[in-house]
Amino acid sequence: MNIKTDFCLKPFNTFGIEVMSKSCAQITSSGDLFELFEAGELQKQEVLVIGEASNILFLTHFDGLVIMPLMRGKKVISENESEVILKVNAGEYWNSLVDYTVERNWWGIENLSLIPGKVGAAPIQNIGAYGTELKDVFESLEAFDMKKGEIVNFNNEECGFGYRNSIFKNEFRGRFVVLSVTLRLSKLSNPNLNYKAITDVFDGKKTTEISISEIRDAINKIRESKLPDPQKIKNAGSFFKNPVVESKTAEQLKTEYPEIPVYKISNTKSKLAAGWLIEQCGWKGKRIGDAGVHDKQALVLVNYGTATGKDIFDLSEKIKNSVLDKFGVELQREVLVV
Ligand code: EPU
Repeated sequence: MNIKTDFCLKPFNTFGIEVMSKSCAQITSSGDLFELFEAGELQKQEVLVIGEASNILFLTHFDGLVIMPLMRGKKVISENESEVILKVNAGEYWNSLVDYTVERNWWGIENLSLIPGKVGAAPIQNIGAYGTELKDVFESLEAFDMKKGEIVNFNNEECGFGYRNSIFKNEFRGRFVVLSVTLRLSKLSNPNLNYKAITDVFDGKKTTEISISEIRDAINKIRESKLPDPQKIKNAGSFFKNPVVESKTAEQLKTEYPEIPVYKISNTKSKLAAGWLIEQCGWKGKRIGDAGVHDKQALVLVNYGTATGKDIFDLSEKIKNSVLDKFGVELQREVLVV
């Protein structure tokens, strides 16, 4: 396997930040990982696994080994009249997988249409959009343990999925390389129209009359209207998480700001819309040098060209501070800062 040194990461992170890594290994099978382990490469330095790096902000050069899993391929493990168990290798593009399942009328991930990134990254932050999260269809994953040099399996429960969260962002951060992800998809029509923007599109239509491709198309349209096209404006999707607060806090804010979107998530907790909070602080469409806040969705920070990771990070700090000052709510970054 070929390990490249002084590797330029600019084309390999969706923020388009110009940084280098000390070395980079492009992996085409688990055998490559065993080889790296045997050679001590995984133990002697810092290791960072990236898919499309669509959720990473590089602050500076990475003084370690970047691993890029490139394994492609999908395999039906089993199926019956009502469902299919599909194993997908980590190097597949997530949105190509969505297209593949939509073409076959396999329901479950159509609401996750147009999410950038690769399949191996999907479980790390339990990708989610329009009322669906990966965990809803996730069966298991196979991963390489860089500490022990062995392949292990994780089922749904073992991944500890939460809102944009999993065990791989916490206690197992940096320890595993995801090799493949197995999904349980439905062959029976099963539209998820819970999200308001989707309900509105299909208002008055019978659920049984809505096709899977209509849902995918509706979601693509909504995303394209709000989110910047990564080919044109560099970005990493939502920069912050939607903050989860005590419902009491949300109610207090609602009396002061009747328009504030509040989503109740349990008896005691509510989620606020970070994009709304940021917009209210006047940041939507603002730009400092080449670092900016997208003009159609304030939760998305963008690089208009030559912004450095630090430029974007500094802008995010200013945004955090103003939301804290105005609403008393602390935003947490969704992107991984390296
Ligand atoms: N809003 C504003 N101003 C803004 C942005 C949003 O007022 O600039 C308001 C909207 O009007 C709406 C509410 O905030 O009332 C929620 O907005 P939206 O439906 O656009 O979704 P979001 O909460 O901002 C989340 C995800 C997105 C996902 C959408 C749709 C997070 C951090 N983000 O955004 O995920 O596509 O819901 O489900 O949970 C991503 O993770 O990269 C991502 C794009």
